[in-house]
Amino acid sequence: MTAHRELRGDVAVLVPAAGLGVRLGPGGPKALRLLGGEPLLVHAVRRLSEAPCVGCVVVAAPADGVEAVQRLLEAYDVTVVAGGATRQASVAAALAAVPAGFEIVLVHDAARALAPAGLFERVAGAVRGGHGAVVPVLPVVDTIKQVDAAGAVLGTVDRSGLRAVQTPQGFRREVLVAAHAAAVDEHTDDAGMAEKLGIEVHTVAGDELALKITRPLDLALAELLIKATED
Ligand code: C5P
Repeated sequence: MTAHRELRGDVAVLVPAAGLGVRLGPGGPKALRLLGGEPLLVHAVRRLSEAPCVGCVVVAAPADGVEAVQRLLEAYDVTVVAGGATRQASVAAALAAVPAGFEIVLVHDAARALAPAGLFERVAGAVRGGHGAVVPVLPVVDTIKQVDAAGAVLGTVDRSGLRAVQTPQGFRREVLVAAHAAAVDEHTDDAGMAEKLGIEVHTVAGDELALKITRPLDLALAELLIKATED
């Protein structure tokens, strides 16, 4: 059994990764797609485990894949729980497994496998600094058009006020608990649920390395990035 590097921080990180079967390898579920020979989930957990602020990691795996994901992550100090039918349910299941004493909770998507440890520090630092909810953002580089159902352009959106949101998103624990307790609709991110509660969401600078690896081109770019950053 590989020795765990002990986590010593006071921040818990939730990694919903239950939107997948347990198939490994290219073409399989997204969080288990191989990048440089390792599943995205392993890349994500390795990088976030390097952040000194992190003291607890909870991964939500598919209900029938908890043991497989535990084996995959046996070199890391993580708790693996069964996720739910939706991302939101998986985050709630992971949140329920965070031990008492962790007052800052970050939620991270395994598909942002190259998010560096420094980004976790930055988001956690802003929560520690007094913000109830924090998201890392990047400026939007493309021109954004509003279109109708037929694809005709209705107008051009002023992009100066737009930001693309990444993960990890950070919360005071009680904010995330309240957001999940109050959520009635499905949300694509956790900050959206906090917004619904009227909580002010603070932004910090994101990181281009935290790109969401979704399309084949993203995977190709990520392969180049790990070569460039790990050489
Ligand atoms: O589908 P999407 O890219 O939004 O999924 C974001 C994350 O939520 C993925 O890491 C996926 O594994 C996770 N998820 C989950 N439980 C579900 C559905 C998605 O943990 N039921």
